[in-house]
Amino acid sequence: MSVGAETIPQSSSNEPPVELNRLLKDIQSLEALTIDWDESQHNTLHALKQAHDDLNKEAFTRLIRALKAEPTALKALKEAVADEVVYAVLRYHGILKATLNERVEAALETVRPFLESHGGNVELMEIPSPDTVIIRLLGACDGCPASALTLSEGIEKAIKEHCPEVTTIKKAKGGVTATPVDVINVGFVSPFARSEDTGWVFVCNLDTIPEGQIKVANVSNNEVLLSRFDHQVTCYENACSHMGMPLDMGEVNQGILICPHHGFKYSLQTGECLTAPEVQLHTHAVRVIDNRVEVKLT
Ligand code: FES
Repeated sequence: MSVGAETIPQSSSNEPPVELNRLLKDIQSLEALTIDWDESQHNTLHALKQAHDDLNKEAFTRLIRALKAEPTALKALKEAVADEVVYAVLRYHGILKATLNERVEAALETVRPFLESHGGNVELMEIPSPDTVIIRLLGACDGCPASALTLSEGIEKAIKEHCPEVTTIKKAKGGVTATPVDVINVGFVSPFARSEDTGWVFVCNLDTIPEGQIKVANVSNNEVLLSRFDHQVTCYENACSHMGMPLDMGEVNQGILICPHHGFKYSLQTGECLTAPEVQLHTHAVRVIDNRVEVKLT
């Protein structure tokens, strides 16, 4: 069925939008009514719900794909995603991935029980750049002689497990955040990373990576693509997320890499696929110390 633009409904009222909590409560109230249903009724209800979910997910995926292809619509799409209802529904369907902020929070949640059992805690202060996280130790952890160990053995490991792109985790004290030089210098690596991190492999010198383009490198028999945007260096597996074909012969235009095989487009700054919103390039951790670029396969 073809739907004409004139059939798109116009916003007709100035009523304030319904809050997400209200909508969720309505759903929960209806679900409560089914609590006494027998298994067969529950199975039918589940199948019906799944069918609706599949339909909605497919529609949202197509809608976002179409909007992403249109540069002028992209801005509006980003603004729409900031709406709590839109965001919640897209996350529910797995169309939006968890943000770095959410993944760091999830990582901190895994270590909180341990910290709390010792009268301490941790909070996320700031994410000044995609590879740097600033946290603050609270309570008994703050100033504890073992806080360095807590940071490196517990918190750092948890964050790096959940967020492999994070290479630098800093500890703020009393609300102190990173100095400007720390934020600007992507090559800054915490003392913990220098002394305790293993698995980093020197790949090349920073100045050999062309700005906004790609450089192919070999890391422990894995072909990777390195790219540089100002102070940010990214590293991806040389494999398209569509069918795993190599990407290095792809054309790069304004930071967008186009797969030479079937045309999937990827942002080299984020690894995000602009053709299929649920797809992402496989990212490896990368750090820069002075002029040395090092990669850790993830
Ligand atoms: S393998 Fe890259 S688009 Fe198909």
